[in-house]
Amino acid sequence: MSIVSLGSPDGSAAASPGFHLRKAGPADLPAVNTIVERAIATWNSSARVLRLSLPLYRYTELDLAHLELLVAETSEVIGVAALEMTADDSGVLLHGLYVDPQQRRLGVGTRLLQAAEQIARRHGRGMRVRARPEAMAFFEANGYRRMPQIDLGDAYPRLLWKSLVVDDSSAA
Ligand SMILES: CC(C)(COP(=O)(O)OP(=O)(O)OC[C@H]1O[C@@H](n2cnc3c(N)ncnc32)[C@H](O)[C@@H]1OP(=O)(O)O)[C@@H](O)C(=O)NCCC(=O)NCCS
Repeated sequence: MSIVSLGSPDGSAAASPGFHLRKAGPADLPAVNTIVERAIATWNSSARVLRLSLPLYRYTELDLAHLELLVAETSEVIGVAALEMTADDSGVLLHGLYVDPQQRRLGVGTRLLQAAEQIARRHGRGMRVRARPEAMAFFEANGYRRMPQIDLGDAYPRLLWKSLVVDDSSAA
């Protein structure tokens, strides 16, 4: 799997200090799922709930048919973003975003999100996120705002949205 151009929104080079981004393929799935597992382990849920729910979050080759996977890596994968490419009127869905707990607050999640937005911009007007409560501050810091009157239940109480259209007056 070759390194692809995933430039910053301002057009600067893809690589950030210490890590770079690239699209992922089937060979990356073990490393991707290691990050998913480590990241989910930090959620504020019981060990039993985490154990039972983990299989739902692991990615398989079947997922690659409709998801675009991006990874951030140093000498190893440290972060993952998964983008569901079937856009509806409200935009592309960010299916998942996971950063190794040892690598947080270093900008890895933001760079993955920006790269995902760059891809999403070609497919829809905006990006939707079913945010975990623990990730609300991260998404709000990145310009996402709550879509009102939508409640997906306890696991995903917050559906967030960010317009990817410049000067779109519907942006929150
Ligand atoms: C959410 C997540 C992807 C963020 O990744 P990250 O690489 O740590 O994020 P960044 O370093 O780019 O953070 C950017 C900004 O978001 C905000 N932010 C990020 N994590 C935060 C936290 N735990 N608490 C408060 N603000 C936070 C801060 O404003 C931060 O900027 P700062 O570090 O300069 O203060 C990561 O915490 C994670 O993998 N969580 C578990 C999986 C998950 O819940 N994913 C979201 C599913 S919807």
